[in-house]
Amino acid sequence: AVRLRVREALRAREPAEEVRVQGWIRSVRSQKEVLFLHINDGSSLENLQVVADPSLENRDLTFGSAVEVQGKLVKSPHRMQNMELQAKTIRVVGPCDIWSFPLKMKQRQPLEYVRQFPHLRCRNNTLGSLLRIRSEATAAIHSFFQDNGYMHIHTPIITSNDCEGAGELFQVETSSEARDSADKTHFFNVPAFLTVSGQLHLEVMAGAFTHVFTFGPTFRAENSQSRRHLAEFYMVEAELSFTESLQDIMQVMEDLFKTVTSTVLSKCPRDVELFHKYVAPAQKVIQNFSFHSYLRDSFYFYCRISYSEAVEILKQASQSFTLKPEWGCDLQKEHEKYLVKHCGDIPVFVINYPYDLKPFYMRDNEDGPQHTVAAVDLLVPGIGELCGGSLREERLPFLESRLQRLGLTDAYQWYLDLRKFGSAPHGGFGMGFERYLQYILGVDNIKDVIPFPRFSHSCLL
Ligand code: 4AD
Ligand code: MG
Repeated sequence: AVRLRVREALRAREPAEEVRVQGWIRSVRSQKEVLFLHINDGSSLENLQVVADPSLENRDLTFGSAVEVQGKLVKSPHRMQNMELQAKTIRVVGPCDIWSFPLKMKQRQPLEYVRQFPHLRCRNNTLGSLLRIRSEATAAIHSFFQDNGYMHIHTPIITSNDCEGAGELFQVETSSEARDSADKTHFFNVPAFLTVSGQLHLEVMAGAFTHVFTFGPTFRAENSQSRRHLAEFYMVEAELSFTESLQDIMQVMEDLFKTVTSTVLSKCPRDVELFHKYVAPAQKVIQNFSFHSYLRDSFYFYCRISYSEAVEILKQASQSFTLKPEWGCDLQKEHEKYLVKHCGDIPVFVINYPYDLKPFYMRDNEDGPQHTVAAVDLLVPGIGELCGGSLREERLPFLESRLQRLGLTDAYQWYLDLRKFGSAPHGGFGMGFERYLQYILGVDNIKDVIPFPRFSHSCLL
């Protein structure tokens, strides 16, 4: 018998005499004359219908059990499906005790409920769709960059730099260093951390390969209870040499977003539809149809405002904020929300932030003494910041004096070298992959777009 995945069986054009399908039972319906099973093996949201003689009924044929079915693939008489499997034999490979199994047949269990079962929730429809979309989006991101002449770089996960300078670091030590607090040695001779961004390593590589990207795990020790923050998340980062305007960086962000999103929509339409139907029906932006038309519209990411304009808009708002908007202060979640609304509930680029708010590597706009830097954040409805990027300070004297003031000169000698040996104007950005998924699918809690949720500090799988 030919072994077929459920997806292949469903899409087969021709009937086939002897096929074998393996998967998990999603439903059992036993009638006097016929036994119906629905089998899923993760290859698609849709199940394969198995039609069998009631004599094949067996008390281990329950929801959740692992089975192998052999039989004939035939055209289905049902409108909703193309093919079905007429079983000759059904073997229960691994039974499932439905009474203690937390997932239930034909129940749409809330995401909060299934989050309690990180080891089982991938067998739920919503999580299944999410993980298939996540996988397709990952591939689409790699293709986007490879197709556009970027080289992929595996940037290190253990590093000694704090690129963002925000101090949200996880330190890495050996277990014996951790056990013995008197032990002041470091495995790497210097303190080491989990990376908060691959940017500085990408800058090294952009100095040889011009256009580079990385897409890997990133770690930040920040507010783990938030719906937008994870301690471990994936970031896509790109770095471009010979770039002198933020415009170029914004263009790549926009192209990346549009290309990846349309690929996801065309590769897994049913999975995306599930989110639009059941998870976020009220999310206007992401509703299937309008989303397509937004994508077609080349001015989708139209709104571009400067930080100073943003602060003016906020100051003139009739609404009052918990934190009063003030030039020089970080934009709060409530401010970002207001700005996105103000611009018509579309993605908004905010550029040119105050010098003192941003990390050392951002390029001075020279519009006053250390007034603003060439930074760009992309804010999107429902999420807030999706991407952050900037032009990098490529001028040695500017960078030297900034590092000096911050007391970082020694640590960043190697980075200064990049400005001594063939420094080219360059810039780049990072996009939070989980926030991207949240945005296109309308998922409220970021813990529902990762394979293994961590809903409290005590839950590591
Ligand atoms: O704005 P951030 O901090 O930018 C950087 O790290 C730059 N070095 C990137 C670069 O220019 N190469 O982070 C980039 C994005 C944010 O816009 C956000 O989407 C996401 O990463 N992000 C998080 N996502 C989930 N959980 C967290 N704790 C996140 N922190 C940042
Ligand atoms: Mg940022």
